[in-house]
Amino acid sequence: MSQSLSPRTIELVKATVPALGAHGTDITKVMYAKLFQDAHIRALFNQSNQGESGSQVKALAAAILAYARNIDNLDALVPVVERIAHKHIGYHILPEHYAYVARALIGAIAEVLGEKVNEDILTAWGEAYWFLANILIERETGIRENLESRTGGWNGWRKFRISEKRRESDVITSFILSPVDGQPVLAHRPGQYLTLRFSLADGTEIKRNYSISCAPNTLHYRISVKLEPAGQGGSRFLHQVSQIGDILEITPPAGDFFLPDEPERPIVLLSAGVGLTPMVSMVETIGTHYPDIEVHYVHGALNSRTHAMDQHVRSIAHQHGKMSVATFYSDPAPQDSAGITHDQNGLISPEWLRDNTPFSNADFFLCGPKPFLRGMVNDLGTLGIKPERIHYEIFGPNDEEIAA
Ligand SMILES: Cc1cc2nc3c(=O)[nH]c(=O)nc-3n(C[C@H](O)[C@H](O)[C@H](O)COP(=O)(O)OP(=O)(O)OC[C@H]3O[C@@H](n4cnc5c(N)ncnc54)[C@H](O)[C@@H]3O)c2cc1C
Ligand code: HEM
Repeated sequence: MSQSLSPRTIELVKATVPALGAHGTDITKVMYAKLFQDAHIRALFNQSNQGESGSQVKALAAAILAYARNIDNLDALVPVVERIAHKHIGYHILPEHYAYVARALIGAIAEVLGEKVNEDILTAWGEAYWFLANILIERETGIRENLESRTGGWNGWRKFRISEKRRESDVITSFILSPVDGQPVLAHRPGQYLTLRFSLADGTEIKRNYSISCAPNTLHYRISVKLEPAGQGGSRFLHQVSQIGDILEITPPAGDFFLPDEPERPIVLLSAGVGLTPMVSMVETIGTHYPDIEVHYVHGALNSRTHAMDQHVRSIAHQHGKMSVATFYSDPAPQDSAGITHDQNGLISPEWLRDNTPFSNADFFLCGPKPFLRGMVNDLGTLGIKPERIHYEIFGPNDEEIAA
């Protein structure tokens, strides 16, 4: 990322870092209130991530703070830009939407920081915002052009039909999504997610991300959804109300978490709970395309009632020959027995990984609940795994630092 902001702008933006650190979430809250006065802008968002303790508010505050801190070292932001750009592709954010955020953000900084800021600082922030916005717009345009140019590619919302619904465990159900137009779909990169738009029974329109749980192909996608009893009810709707034949809308596969095209070293796929979905896409892909790669699929579930797709993964591993499977149950059911229904009782530990996988030579792919991710990423780092060998997906906005 080349730097072309003036030294004066950089200095003024950096001067606001302490105030931003202290008021970052207040600023983004006010910013969203201003932004959502425009109904068509509000409709672009996933409302379940907003609100008082909304993780989207924290994610944007964290991004703005990281930007202000790194304004004289923008290369540090490359991975952040990549994640945001893919997220924006999923939500179909277009260049014309950026001016709304600019107005809302500068207005919010002025309102919350009051006399701590003057016209010069606000002008510097305007310049800095557009500098970052243009980096995002350019990257998003590149991703969109690439998506549209490939077989099965498209831009924006496309209609899909639920063509199959399959119960995988007491809490996880898979859905096969086939395009209504009968044309090919874009072969995703294993690990990527879809963004779905659908209406709940009361007519509320919602958007949700779901990792694709099958190998890339040009016919359909599969998602595997965990039932979340609380909340707005996207997963409840999919589980309990949606039926085969129902239509929903999907943007093209997105996300910067995926299997490399040419894996060069052993792979450890590490997941907990419904975090297995991108891993199963990777397992299917490796099973078909990478016979020579050593793979370790390590999964933690509560017990056999909640554990999904076990036989599926084991049968691919068996055929592959160089793929091992190890499952851990933290709360075994009465019928569960270590060595028969699963491999180990308890939680996956970094020591177990060190002793049972090609630890220091592997690429690690992780997905699961935030506490699992935070603990595991931290422990892997403590045991000497370099950050570039650790790849993870978060099933929500990145509102807190997972890795140091
Ligand atoms: C990149 C990505 C990939 C994902 N992949 C998958 C996947 O493969 N499978 C999968 O099952 N999910 C996946 N998710 C999560 C998915 O997008 C949804 O968040 C999930 O299905 C829950 O949606 P929901 O509408 O049922 O619940 P939401 O309304 O979003 O609520 C979720 C949870 O938040 C809490 N909550 C929300 N609102 C409130 C409130 N007002 N008060 C108290 N608590 C509240 C509740 O605990 C609730 O259970 C993924 C997310 C991301 C970002
Ligand atoms: C420079 C400008 C912007 C920055 C720095 C920014 C930053 C972010 C960040 C950090 C996330 C969360 C990514 C994650 O999940 O980790 C995000 C998601 C998102 N952004 Fe932006 N954004 C910008 C502009 C915009 C604009 C112009 C819009 C539309 C008006 C927009 C709409 C969204 C939406 C809808 C999401 C997904 C929300 C969700 O997951 O609930 N953003 N953005």
